[in-house]
Amino acid sequence: MDMKLVLEACGKALPEQIIDNDWFAARLDTSDEWIRQRTGIRERRLAIDIAGPGTVAPNSSQSGIARPDGKIPIDGTQVANLALDAARRCLKNFRELNPTDSVYHTTISAAGSDAAFAENSDKNTATASEVAKAVDVATVATSLSVAERIKYVLVATMSAEQRMPNIASQLIEPLGLNPNVLAFDINAACTGFVYSLETASALLKTQPPDSLALVIGAERLSSLLDFSDRSTAVLFGDGAAATLWSVEPGPKDIFISGTETAPLLLYTDADQHIRMEGRAVFRYATSTLPRVLQELAEVGELETDAIDYFLLHQANSRIIDSISSRLNLPAERFPQNLALCGNTSAASLPLLLADLWSDGTLSRTGQQNLNICLAAFGAGMSYGSVLMRRNS
Ligand code: ACO
Repeated sequence: MDMKLVLEACGKALPEQIIDNDWFAARLDTSDEWIRQRTGIRERRLAIDIAGPGTVAPNSSQSGIARPDGKIPIDGTQVANLALDAARRCLKNFRELNPTDSVYHTTISAAGSDAAFAENSDKNTATASEVAKAVDVATVATSLSVAERIKYVLVATMSAEQRMPNIASQLIEPLGLNPNVLAFDINAACTGFVYSLETASALLKTQPPDSLALVIGAERLSSLLDFSDRSTAVLFGDGAAATLWSVEPGPKDIFISGTETAPLLLYTDADQHIRMEGRAVFRYATSTLPRVLQELAEVGELETDAIDYFLLHQANSRIIDSISSRLNLPAERFPQNLALCGNTSAASLPLLLADLWSDGTLSRTGQQNLNICLAAFGAGMSYGSVLMRRNS
């Protein structure tokens, strides 16, 4: 039986600090006009202290993600914190939408309160701490109900501050997930989220039908920027978004992905700063993506015109506009959030999904009634795409 991915919920987390183009214009030989016209970017969120470019925000730990006790600090702006925040919002949205979980929550909550009151039957009252304990039981129990279904946690990222432990493993305990999950990071630069979806899709098909995969894109690219290089510094932003997926019977999703060895087009140098041959990357994107999107439509036996939305990696609005004109399709089918986020690499596509989820364009049933393409390109050079077809 053919199975397709179903989007169950989304959640996103962006650093609070907004940096507009004028901030760069005040420091570099650039202008708001140049950045808007050549990229479509108006502002981006950066988890970096604007008082001193290149420094780390005061509330974050320079030495890495984890404290000596192994716990993730609840403040700070590391990739793991962004990922955790996005995942929490995603699971909260899932619980709000999922009546079974709500019923479970209520039942356990009532049971917890009953237990607290029963222990105090002689006084016929419960102390604040006993009630708090009951509420804790409810919270944990709710998490466990999701935990029983989540089998995979995949984090697409290229900006983790530490090589190990990976980001995904650091989310298990704070999210209250079942430790039996398989949790790992995927680095395929900006293509990472699509590769992660392909991986999640394949893995979920090996599990019982109600299984879930939490697929996150999270980046703090500000830590990889040379703020004196106008050709890269203005392009990137920080952020994370989490998406929760199941698989159900339906038209099989079509993935077309690949990797070419081109290490000098887009890379981090010895100082871990992003370097890039901008024009060559632009040409790669505008030649590869239209070909791949046509191929997806052909394999899926659809006209490109029958595809409702093309969610493309948000690197440059001129790349997206060029692809929409090459396919002769209206710009409305190519939603963008680039103006407000910049290029957030592996977080770019899930952030777009989260925006479409919160504005009501996408929902669990909505996604199943739409033909949607996701496509990305990135360092490697890598490309990845998927066509999710509507249920007939
Ligand atoms: N402000 C003003 N001028 C600038 C700036 C800037 N911020 N950046 C570059 N310029 C200058 C260049 O120095 C050049 O000057 P010159 O003519 O005197 O040599 C001029 O602008 C034109 O440069 P181009 O590189 O030809 O500009 P282009 O129109 O191609 O835009 C850009 C540059 C925005 C980088 C574009 O090439 C692009 O978007 N490329 C794709 C990048 C991309 O998608 N990267 C992400 C990949 S995903 C991942 O894996 C991370």
